[in-house]
Amino acid sequence: MTRIVLLGSSSLLANFLASELRTDFEIQLVGRSAPLVKDLEHNWIKCTNVVELPRKVKTLIVNADIVINCIAMTSVDRCEFNRDAAYAINTRFPKLLVDFVSQTSPSTYLMCFSTDQVYASRDKAIDASVPADPCNWYGKTKLMGEPALEQDNALTVRLNYVNDCPSWHAADRRISVFKNLLSAGGPFYAACDWFFAPIGLRDVSLAVKAAVVRKISGRILLGGEQLLSKFDYYSSLSGSLGFNGSLVKTAVLSDLNLKAERPKSVFLDFSETKGLLGLPAEWPKEIFEDN
Ligand SMILES: NC(=O)c1ccc[n+]([C@@H]2O[C@H](COP(=O)([O-])OP(=O)(O)OC[C@H]3O[C@@H](n4cnc5c(N)ncnc54)[C@H](OP(=O)(O)O)[C@@H]3O)[C@@H](O)[C@H]2O)c1
Repeated sequence: MTRIVLLGSSSLLANFLASELRTDFEIQLVGRSAPLVKDLEHNWIKCTNVVELPRKVKTLIVNADIVINCIAMTSVDRCEFNRDAAYAINTRFPKLLVDFVSQTSPSTYLMCFSTDQVYASRDKAIDASVPADPCNWYGKTKLMGEPALEQDNALTVRLNYVNDCPSWHAADRRISVFKNLLSAGGPFYAACDWFFAPIGLRDVSLAVKAAVVRKISGRILLGGEQLLSKFDYYSSLSGSLGFNGSLVKTAVLSDLNLKAERPKSVFLDFSETKGLLGLPAEWPKEIFEDN
């Protein structure tokens, strides 16, 4: 059976991918924290310095057919004020991982996730020809981590915000924060002038599965079908979680006092990705659907 090693055992994406792909692949999670899903095979790695990690997981990597890296500093604001750490995790680590895999296990297929935050705000859809132009340190460090993957047998997935599915709510820390706030009576302020296109976890895992089966190399864009404001998104989410929609209040992005700048609108055109991965034209599905 094809063996996939997922780096980042507490990562939302790694756990969901592990749960979804385990029926078709042999899966191992690797990381310094406990997995979100309890019955997955997990290798603890005690590592204070992330750049040491590839060497520490040498045997796991050497025996893997596929390595999917989900280790990253993903909080946009945290990256802005922890610049060296964000650079080490988001830029240096993928490069060291690629170097290590190329030297020790060149036939291993490697996948890393990047982000829509590598783009500047744009009112039209973003396709592969649009140059990256990040406005925050998270986007910059992720972008600087990408060139190492520009080789055969390696793929960068530039991904929109990932929305969970209802059966997964308990494990999604971001949803927990939102739910706790609404449970306490709210309000939750969401910007009506800040647009994004979230993609469901199941759609991400479908695309990842297609990419690993086809061993797609290079870079793909992956995102949701629908551009919507954060206000519309959180209003719908509150409804799907059983809360009164009026607990979500409208705001504008500049009122939210976020530490790092954000692109105001990012909508990835993934028609090329669909063709490459052989995904159906009606894909992806509704973001709040749980199927
Ligand atoms: N989720 C999204 O909406 C989204 C959207 C676009 C792109 N992406 C990309 O997709 C990938 C996975 O995202 P995610 O949401 O699953 O991330 P996540 O839930 O924030 O998980 C990040 C993982 O990285 C680990 N990590 C961070 N610093 C580390 C260090 N110094 N040493 C070892 N492990 C470390 C964390 O472990 P600890 O828990 O121990 O810190 C955690 O397992 C990332 O590359 C992210 O940029 C995600």
